[in-house]
Amino acid sequence: MGRIAYVNGRFVPHGQAVVHIEDRGYQLGDGVYEVWALFGGRLGDAEGHFARLERSLSELRIDMPMSRRALTLVIREAVRRNRVQEGLVYLQVTRGVAPRDHGFPVPPAPPSLVITVSRVDRAAAEARAAKGVGVVTTPENRWGRCDIKTIGLLPNVLAKQKAREAGAMEAWFVDDLGFVTEGASSNAWIVDRDGRLRTRDTNANILRGVTRRTLLDVIGEEGLKVEERPFTADEAVAAKEAFITGAGSLVLPVIAVDGRPVGDGKVGPVAMRLRRLYIERAKATAI
Ligand code: PDD
Repeated sequence: MGRIAYVNGRFVPHGQAVVHIEDRGYQLGDGVYEVWALFGGRLGDAEGHFARLERSLSELRIDMPMSRRALTLVIREAVRRNRVQEGLVYLQVTRGVAPRDHGFPVPPAPPSLVITVSRVDRAAAEARAAKGVGVVTTPENRWGRCDIKTIGLLPNVLAKQKAREAGAMEAWFVDDLGFVTEGASSNAWIVDRDGRLRTRDTNANILRGVTRRTLLDVIGEEGLKVEERPFTADEAVAAKEAFITGAGSLVLPVIAVDGRPVGDGKVGPVAMRLRRLYIERAKATAI
């Protein structure tokens, strides 16, 4: 059975799933998205991702395409039709279809809604986590509202490509003061020399990662020390461990920054333990 996508009210074969050429997402990047990890066919960190979706939409004055309850049912049905247990749900809402004009359409167009489901090979993901990944740094060049999960991702695309070409998995944006903001599609963390966890505070211009938030709760319950405070690339290299978090990466150890080993250059115990604890938590609370 092939993949099925949801597009504006209909489930259609993935290969035939299309949106109009004047969709404002396509024309102007005028939309937002969310990504949920699926554990056993259920949505991980569901509440956090729905809350952020609603916030992203409201910041851009785009209506929710349907209630959260209805959206949950549609997502569930999309997952069921794709028969995916371990994977990702991608959901995108745009300001709809209207003749191209930068200002909002008058009268407003109904928002467009697209949902796709993809499979993740968790064994391969675990193997990758056990080996660790490299990151490269790149100057922060995004707009001032990175708290909104917009589909306008060109700086992230170019940063990720820079990482790929350097044989790394992720790129970390670095601000004018030399501090890491976040990854192209993840939040950035270190375990410093004193064993204290550190990640950038959300007053900075970063996405308020849902995985980051849940992991902070887990860290608190484990009684580990944590600070929401910026760090530089040099501090990451001098740290004991580093890792990234996100719906795609979950908790993924980082063993090199710009080719320089982090700590002893090996995957550390804290990141791996937090990965295990996060996955346990996400599985237990998935809906
Ligand atoms: N990315 N920062 C950025 C810029 C991101 O794009 C993401 C997520 C995160 C982590 O957020 P969360 O823990 O809520 O997934 C941080 C998704 C997975 C993506 O773009 O595919």
